[in-house]
Amino acid sequence: MNKNFYITTPIYYPSGKPHMGHAYSSIITDIFARFKRIEGYNVLFLTGTDEHGQKIEKEAKKNNKDPKIFCDELSDKFRSLTKILNLSNDDFIRTTEERHFQSVIEIWNRLIESGDIYLDKYSGWYSVSDEAFYDEDEIEELDGNKVARTSGSMVEWVEEESYFFKLSAWQTKLLNHYKNNKDFILPISRQNEVISFVEKGLKDLSISRTSFSWGIPVPKNKKHVIYVWLDALTNYISALNFPDVNHNKYKSFWPADIHIIGKDILRFHAIYWPAFLLAAKIDLPKRIFSHGWILSDEKKMSKSIGNILDPIEIVNKYGIDQLRYYLTKEVSLGNDGSISMENLKACINNDLANNYGNLCQRVFSFIKKNCKNKIPEGHNLTDNDLKLIKKTKEILPKLINFMNNQNLNEYVKTVVGLSFDANKYFNDSEPWKYSKTNVERMNTILFTITEQIKNLSILLSPIIPLSTKKVLDSINLNDKDIRVDTILKNNVLNHKKEIKETKILFKKIEDDN
Ligand code: ME8
Ligand code: MG
Repeated sequence: MNKNFYITTPIYYPSGKPHMGHAYSSIITDIFARFKRIEGYNVLFLTGTDEHGQKIEKEAKKNNKDPKIFCDELSDKFRSLTKILNLSNDDFIRTTEERHFQSVIEIWNRLIESGDIYLDKYSGWYSVSDEAFYDEDEIEELDGNKVARTSGSMVEWVEEESYFFKLSAWQTKLLNHYKNNKDFILPISRQNEVISFVEKGLKDLSISRTSFSWGIPVPKNKKHVIYVWLDALTNYISALNFPDVNHNKYKSFWPADIHIIGKDILRFHAIYWPAFLLAAKIDLPKRIFSHGWILSDEKKMSKSIGNILDPIEIVNKYGIDQLRYYLTKEVSLGNDGSISMENLKACINNDLANNYGNLCQRVFSFIKKNCKNKIPEGHNLTDNDLKLIKKTKEILPKLINFMNNQNLNEYVKTVVGLSFDANKYFNDSEPWKYSKTNVERMNTILFTITEQIKNLSILLSPIIPLSTKKVLDSINLNDKDIRVDTILKNNVLNHKKEIKETKILFKKIEDDN
């Protein structure tokens, strides 16, 4: 069985500083990457920045900066965001790197060789902000401006010499691929959207520009730079050392298991990317998963409304695990989701502070007081004790399934349910009643609940890795045991070492905060 797993985020335009939408994609991807690791996979998790094209060139000019220097500065902000969000990415790619350049040139040459590229003239609408060409029927008039209907971005009329990719020739092959691989594009609603778009017929795609120069030059015709999307999409294989297809990285990790993207860039990933790959005779990724929009107080984030949420501000104020948990729990993955500071506070208080955090703290301080600070052994477990632990073992396959189908919300809901059960078990079992009269019974309850705290912490570790690590460290669980299959084992708890003191896990947020 192939135990390698390759997962990617979009590579973001460093045209401004990162916002909550970028953070969302990256956090979701990180959660899946971390889960596959604790499932025992050898994971490669890639993120990075998309640095060529007219949008970046324009933005750099506006700031009176050389585009490369401009990108260096802003790409650094995205790189440092990976640390702030506690992402476990293994690599960070920039499309201005030499390793990427080689890879794009190879793709271009392969498309030339296969006869999929021809020179002609493009005339039509272009949105610099989306770096996308639009048909007449995708344009509408808004306040006297021509804008793309889907994104609302301004478009301009472009007429220039251009190389074209014979996208139209790949229509049937693409449709067959969608039909034969029902989970190539997920969620299903997005899959249907793509299929009906492709069924309407595909036009050839302009894949070079001449009106600016910030990009990778077309081999043998330096007047042209390669279209930024052909350039950008290739990052996913550049990071694996393509064109060296015998390289261990490429052999181990391509085809990618999943590209996580936002719905705005579905067409590029679900139509153009597979078509380029088919033409270049490269295997297709296994899955494209597209999530919805993060809305700020019900509205799309925009500079003009002034409702752009800054992830760094929120992390500084409330904590990274808090933000990660909130986005996972409250946004239905695949749909648009509104986030608000009110809900964030409620979520921290109810789920994290009062439920999981409080349970750990209560149990550990009880053990400290009554068991010389060591996890006691359990003897003669009652049906009720066994029920608590068995339930988790029994639903584990279901939980794994949820994660592998990107059903993140069901996963969290189920784990939170287990956490409520654990709290109720602790309250109902009333170990404090036995501290004088039946120490063995008290010990068994404490053993059972600690066993369950360990299980919950493992299950929550992809989502709130810092906090769960504190808990698992404090009960002396080895890092190598932070794995899904540890839940199925007995006798993992360490009864000899003392429980280490943890600082408060989740501070409750007061109203005036
Ligand atoms: O499109 N809600 O880069 P980009 C949720 N460089 N996710 C959001 C979001 C929001 N409001 N806003 C942005 C590009 N995102 C290209 C990608 S990939 C080969 C090249 C996330 O900086 C979401 O993942 O515009 C979206 O697809 C991505 O950021 C777009 O980032
Ligand atoms: Mg964008």
